[in-house]
Amino acid sequence: MKVLGIESSCDECAAAVVEDGRLIRSNVVATQIPFHAQYQGVVPEIASRKHTEWIYAVVREALDKAGIGPEGVEGVAVTSRPGLLGSLLVGLNFAKAFAWARNLPFIAVDHILAHLYAPRLVEARPGGTSGSGSEASDYPFLGLLVSGGHSIICRVDSFDNITVLGATIDDAVGEAFDKVAKHYGFGYPGGAAIDKLARLGDPGAFRFPLPKLSKENRQVSHSCDLSYSGLKTAVINQLDQFRVKKAEPGEDISPADIAASFQKTAVEILLRALLNAVKETGLTTVVAGGGVAANSCLRSRLAEQAGLRCVFPPPELCGDNGAMIAGIGYQYLCRGDRSPLNLTASARVTGFKRRYP
Ligand code: KG4
Ligand code: ZN
Repeated sequence: MKVLGIESSCDECAAAVVEDGRLIRSNVVATQIPFHAQYQGVVPEIASRKHTEWIYAVVREALDKAGIGPEGVEGVAVTSRPGLLGSLLVGLNFAKAFAWARNLPFIAVDHILAHLYAPRLVEARPGGTSGSGSEASDYPFLGLLVSGGHSIICRVDSFDNITVLGATIDDAVGEAFDKVAKHYGFGYPGGAAIDKLARLGDPGAFRFPLPKLSKENRQVSHSCDLSYSGLKTAVINQLDQFRVKKAEPGEDISPADIAASFQKTAVEILLRALLNAVKETGLTTVVAGGGVAANSCLRSRLAEQAGLRCVFPPPELCGDNGAMIAGIGYQYLCRGDRSPLNLTASARVTGFKRRYP
């Protein structure tokens, strides 16, 4: 079954055709980065306007690359939550119209669950397939969802059943990368810019503090929770305090050292919480997803953890894309699930917030 997947929750206008929930026939991502770069962040009005301008051509290209016309599509899946409302509505309404016009089964899916589905996808290549899809097939596993809007550690029991074990109590990890990069002018988007710059720096040049989330005698354990606002503040406002070696008079601070030290600590925060989740659940397979899963330091630090099997989607499937939407959409459609055509978009998903007594 060939499913068309449409993703427009933020600044990527994306569409893909995936066969049987696994085989990527096409995956088109039109990035709006150049339009937001001058503002060093995503401007919601620009994002929704660009989606409106581009969505038709992006879907057209996805069908062309898959070698099919609209009549070759057997189901339509789209992100309806969470994300920027104006952006979500563009993809959602396009998908609804497509499904209605061709009388196709239609399903609206959650962006976060879709990121966790991404490692199951494989690239269709002439003469065969490639990718890591089958490696990720055994439930349950631990999900590490790290993006610009979310930082969640969860137990994943099936494609649509996750239990949140921990989440950020303030900023998302990607947001911290973006804010630090914006402050120091490292480049946009911030995560990839810091990742690149950090390769030239000394990760030990600054020793930033790790958040202290757990106090003794608390009823609620925060052992799998995350916090990034403290690190962000330390790097942006209190940099000098955390310098390991005192600076010589007139000596400049190296941008690469700031990037490397920040990145090391950001990854350390994730690792600490993740290893607590491993201890608490006994699960030893970790499936990562979201834009920050492309981070080279996170990848290498996870790979060196003895006894842990880490599954990463290829970098092109870490960020927002339509293939993950088509893939997870297929699973719902196979089960017979359908979304009503009067369904609307939602900026937030309360179900993923951890509730405290
Ligand atoms: O999943 P995604 O494309 O969009 C959201 O759903 O948020 O993630 C975007 C986030 C941004 O914060 C971006 O800076 C971050 O992922 N990111 C990275 C890297 N590549 C993208 N963060 C760290 N290292 C990277 N290599
Ligand atoms: Zn995303």
